[in-house]
Amino acid sequence: MSSLVGHQIQQSDKVNSLIKDLVGEVTKLNSSLEGIRAPQDAFKDSGKQKIEQTGLLRGRPLHYQYMGSGAGRGPYVELEDGSIKLDLINGIGIHLMGHANPRVMAAAVRGSLSDIINQGNLQPNNEYRLFSEKLVQIASKNSRLKYAWIATCGTMANENALKLSRQKNSPARFVMSFKDAFAGRSTMMAEVTDNTAYKQGLPEYHEVLRVPFYDKRDPKSGEKALAAIKEHVAKHEGNISAFGFEPMLGEGGYQAAPREFFVPLLDFCKSKNIAVWADEVQTFTRTGEYFAFETLGLGQYIDICTIAKTAQIGATLYTEEYNPKPGLIAGTFSGASPCLAAGVEMLNMLSEGFLGPQGRIQQIHKRFIDGINKMNDTTCKGIATDAGGMGLMVAFTPHDGKKESVNSFLNKLYANGVIAFPCGKDPVRARFLIPAIIQDQDIDIALNVIEKTLLEGV
Ligand SMILES: Cc1ncc(COP(=O)(O)O)c(C=O)c1O
Repeated sequence: MSSLVGHQIQQSDKVNSLIKDLVGEVTKLNSSLEGIRAPQDAFKDSGKQKIEQTGLLRGRPLHYQYMGSGAGRGPYVELEDGSIKLDLINGIGIHLMGHANPRVMAAAVRGSLSDIINQGNLQPNNEYRLFSEKLVQIASKNSRLKYAWIATCGTMANENALKLSRQKNSPARFVMSFKDAFAGRSTMMAEVTDNTAYKQGLPEYHEVLRVPFYDKRDPKSGEKALAAIKEHVAKHEGNISAFGFEPMLGEGGYQAAPREFFVPLLDFCKSKNIAVWADEVQTFTRTGEYFAFETLGLGQYIDICTIAKTAQIGATLYTEEYNPKPGLIAGTFSGASPCLAAGVEMLNMLSEGFLGPQGRIQQIHKRFIDGINKMNDTTCKGIATDAGGMGLMVAFTPHDGKKESVNSFLNKLYANGVIAFPCGKDPVRARFLIPAIIQDQDIDIALNVIEKTLLEGV
């Protein structure tokens, strides 16, 4: 036997050429999706019906009149009503390389030729190994993170992170987390999340201790955060397992903070053997480096880091000390073969000019933020304030930042062809999870649509 059949499939010229032809054909068809387009008469009614039916099936209408047709090109996506939207939310941050990227598609097709669709933790295939290897390789470059455990989503990666920290620091029970944090939708992660709207009617477990986040208007916000942590530790010494934090608040309003804000907090946690857990579910691959802890120069502090979204699947990364005892974390699914394969491909693509201070991600950030700021100074005076964020995570406050006016702006923006989503509470902000492959001319189109929509008023 010269080689395993599995390897022959991977290396087969015939298979490779078929994948190339297949992806080439689909890319050719997608290439006709040129730019923003209104719903088309021929599809309007059937599209609307499909959207309504979906809402009825799940007992709650879709947020937007959105049902993808399965076609797209870069930042553009075709919908069942015949419209084409400029997608700057990307499934709340999944599609880092936009829609129908030929390289991502080819990797996913290759993954789907595996003998199984969903891989398990008991019987993994090579995609599982390659995905874990890639994560450990990029994570260990600027931190002591050494292991990766794949999970089905960000919430599950976070659940595992908390378990690791609790086991290592047993019997410590509490977790510290920022005010306005978001950590996911399980019972415990809803508790870590600081948003009452996401836990209506749920009992409280009183296991989360709050720390105020950075406030750029308050020169004392760093001191206040450190004082809060010290107070919690004084009250619960030995009973705090982890400080779980987003390096930039995501759902909480796209608030970024400088390195100097984090350093004293993390130093103190380290001195008290509290696990430093970075929740990078939203920031991973977006801030100009693979990890926001790299962008912020915090790698030395990190004990545990969680990711998901752009990775196409969740994962918990941890150091030697936090490697759990057998039995603590497992689960049937590890991930779908196409997701694991496409995830690795996207991470490889990122190293081709997207990262670093001069990389494409920072260029996109600057062009977008400069554009919003210019609007706020000229045509849209005072109604496009506080533009900011990190890398491909950008937000600004439209109009007065009140929920009703921001939602009205976002709905009009959607009707005008650009998809964005709110975040934060007071003010509510319009946020954009921009795909890394966006071209300058498409950023300019987005800015024009934003401007036109702001000028329509609330
Ligand atoms: C910071 C953060 N943590 C956790 C989650 C939960 O991830 P998932 O929705 O994949 O469960 C999210 C999702 O938005 C997030 O932004």
